Amino acid sequence: MAGHRILLVHPAEGRERLQDRLETADCTVETVSTATAALEAVATDQFDCLVSKHELPGDSGLELQSAAERIAPDVPFVLFADTDSETVTDAADSYHVVRNNGEGSLDRLLEVATGQSTEPPGRKQDISGHEPTTEEIARAIEEAPIGISLSDPSLSDYPLVYTNDAWESITGYETQEVLGRNPRLLQGPESDPETVERLSTAIADEEPANVEIRNYKRNGTPFWNDLTSHQYTTRMESSPTMSAFRSMSPTAAKPKHLPKNEPENSTTSAARCAAFSSVSTGY
Ligand SMILES: Cc1cc2nc3c(=O)[nH]c(=O)nc-3n(C[C@H](O)[C@H](O)[C@H](O)COP(=O)(O)O)c2cc1C
Repeated sequence: MAGHRILLVHPAEGRERLQDRLETADCTVETVSTATAALEAVATDQFDCLVSKHELPGDSGLELQSAAERIAPDVPFVLFADTDSETVTDAADSYHVVRNNGEGSLDRLLEVATGQSTEPPGRKQDISGHEPTTEEIARAIEEAPIGISLSDPSLSDYPLVYTNDAWESITGYETQEVLGRNPRLLQGPESDPETVERLSTAIADEEPANVEIRNYKRNGTPFWNDLTSHQYTTRMESSPTMSAFRSMSPTAAKPKHLPKNEPENSTTSAARCAAFSSVSTGY
């Protein structure tokens, strides 16, 4: 990024190619060779970024990072490391580490030092062999602390084909009694017709929708449902074209806009909301 001021901490040997690369992007580069000189520089001057080689004469870039953070906590720090040691890998959890491992390293350093990197910071671990199985994902959905339901649009009137544990505890209905019925069974006298209409249009158009709708538990207790629905297509071999809707009744059960005649501490609104919220989010 043009005009970016970078402090490059690197022994003289091998420094030029880094400096050249940063300057080709119109960065202004100040250079020092040691950690001590770098700390003096950040204490007295303004920089947009501090780039340090990992191995410094009599010091390490890691030590420089912790000292520099105390002096200039707002200046991003990038460690340019030749090694893949455990300490360097750990450092990547807290700040940017660019590995000097051949082609592309300098381009990557430039991107990170100028804030142009699209890669998120933090260590990226190899998770191969740890991918969840379909059963584990299904279990996570079953036990998720938000209500999740599935309807099948290939059947008339989109009947429910699945509800998870949280959906049951939020609504008070048991799964077996609602399967095969449309989820509008949760609506009642205070369900806003315009909101219902918005849902209806979105679902007919296969568009995602997010509404706050007044719903009713099995025992008649009203609650605010922060409802998101969207359509997805499954890739099941036995039924390749089946699509279904997913809806959630997540965190913010407290409505952003309570009806005017309903005070926040009323047992039918906020108090119920809080109860719903605690059920749906699991705390
Ligand atoms: C998967 C799915 C879940 C739904 N969950 C709810 C819900 O929890 N509460 C609700 O009031 N409506 C819910 N709806 C919306 C209603 O089923 C229905 O689409 C809405 O009332 C508009 O259609 P209607 O005008 O035919 O009633 C859900 C819809 C789908 C597809």
